[in-house]
Amino acid sequence: MEEHPLSEPGLSSRVIDPCVLVIFGATGDLTARKLVPALYNLTREGQLPPQFACVGFARRPKTHESFRTECKDAVSKYSRVKPIEEPLWNKFQDHIYYHMSEFHDDAGYESLKIFLAELDAKLGTKGNRLFYLSTQPSFFPLICEKLQKFGLLYDSSEVKDKWSRVIIEKPFGHDLTSAQSLQKELLRFLNEEQIFRIDHYLGKETVQNILVFRFANSIFESLWNNRYIDHVQITVAEEIGIGTRGLFWEESGLVRDIIQNHMMQLLSLVAMEPPVNLSANAIRDEKVKVLEAIRPLEISDAVRGQYSAGYINGEEVLGYRHENNVNPTSTVETFAALRLYIDNWRWAGVPFYLRSGKRLPKRATEIALVFKDPPGVLFQTPTRKNEHNILALRIQPDEGTSLKINCKVPGYASPIQPVKMDFRYGSYFGMSPPEAYERLIADAIAGDNTLFAREDEVFNSWRLLTPLLENWAATKPADFPNYQAGSWGPEAADALIGKDNRKWRLI
Ligand SMILES: NC(=O)c1ccc[n+]([C@@H]2O[C@H](COP(=O)([O-])OP(=O)(O)OC[C@H]3O[C@@H](n4cnc5c(N)ncnc54)[C@H](OP(=O)(O)O)[C@@H]3O)[C@@H](O)[C@H]2O)c1
Repeated sequence: MEEHPLSEPGLSSRVIDPCVLVIFGATGDLTARKLVPALYNLTREGQLPPQFACVGFARRPKTHESFRTECKDAVSKYSRVKPIEEPLWNKFQDHIYYHMSEFHDDAGYESLKIFLAELDAKLGTKGNRLFYLSTQPSFFPLICEKLQKFGLLYDSSEVKDKWSRVIIEKPFGHDLTSAQSLQKELLRFLNEEQIFRIDHYLGKETVQNILVFRFANSIFESLWNNRYIDHVQITVAEEIGIGTRGLFWEESGLVRDIIQNHMMQLLSLVAMEPPVNLSANAIRDEKVKVLEAIRPLEISDAVRGQYSAGYINGEEVLGYRHENNVNPTSTVETFAALRLYIDNWRWAGVPFYLRSGKRLPKRATEIALVFKDPPGVLFQTPTRKNEHNILALRIQPDEGTSLKINCKVPGYASPIQPVKMDFRYGSYFGMSPPEAYERLIADAIAGDNTLFAREDEVFNSWRLLTPLLENWAATKPADFPNYQAGSWGPEAADALIGKDNRKWRLI
């Protein structure tokens, strides 16, 4: 029987092998905010093997002790469960170590190999290795090359009694060509089965639930096509600006940071055909078919924007060009809206509108399926139309699902009013779901790559978006900044959907 890859780790019968997790970039922001709190919570939930160690690798001088103290501070600050449980922490911290080295320094890998062998002997971690590359992408090939040179990566066709895997942080490439050359470089040292490309959206409970919602319920799936659905809107909105990540944003921009990975994953999950089974490859095959069926994007079907100064929650905030480490004449986009078509049997003629931006009025990620109207012969007049039925999958925050339906208001006049049926994870299940990074680290230890992006998913997404990015790089926007912080983006985004006589949803 195939293991159900979407099942909770705790309910799964999968074997979680002993192993050492080595984090490259262990003194960085991501390790403190996400990775160490995830490891602590996996320990709390009993999801890590007893024979486990985490080794932080970075260049700042530190002792095991001082690294543990920093990890404890990070857990106290960022863990989803507070306060920190001292007895648990005391036990857990004995499994945390620090290894100081430069990424390019051979001696650092030689001593790492010796240290990991000592841990195997001391803790029984059996030579299994999970390397987490939480570093600048330019270091990915270098680190893999060194790991292979010092025998820390195993060739799985020859070595059967232990494994080595590599988790790669985003971004995977800057465009199609760079993603392909990064993959080519990595394949010199690893095979595809060893590469776990993180897209943390896939680790979110609500994103995993898209498949359960669609394929475990007959009532929705039968309507999930161009006969019943008028259009789909996917929104990823953030209130926050770019914070301290000015250097990164100047190189990246919204399409690369959010649309190329997270939004294309949401789109493929919501649009894919049922997989033949729940194995990683069956699911990923169907997602790739969606990406392959997307019609090449017309430049006129894309809008870009950049925020000016404005107000968020009543507080004045800077415009993008005044943020730290940002060029005062920058043309980097902090907002994008697209209209896409998936040219296959199920979705022919149904537009998918995507919008995402920084400094929008609220933080919200949702997928909304807007249904076609019923025949207008009964309850509609030329001057009054009923509202569309809308099924909204709220990915974050306030995770849940709502269905908007029309209903008769009690009384003689019989006006019709839209009402919402609402399901909320928080109130129904009464628990805080695991953080995405918890699930993804546990899956990588178990060797389950269902919730990681496969190479062809990444390439197809870049194939779609690279021509747009090249066009935007060649034609500088004359109107930037073109939306005020705290608004829902530039007017051109309303015009993009408005030309089809549709409107963005009020979220
Ligand atoms: N932060 C986020 O929210 C976030 C979100 C999604 C994805 N990511 C991705 O995650 C990765 C890490 O991001 P981050 O924000 O954690 O980066 P960061 O705060 O800049 O940390 C970089 C880490 O790399 C280490 N490092 C840099 N150069 C090194 C060298 N030559 N030798 C040894 N160590 C070196 C640094 O060590 P020293 O401190 O010792 O110099 C530090 O531990 C990036 O790929 C980023 O795109 C980050």
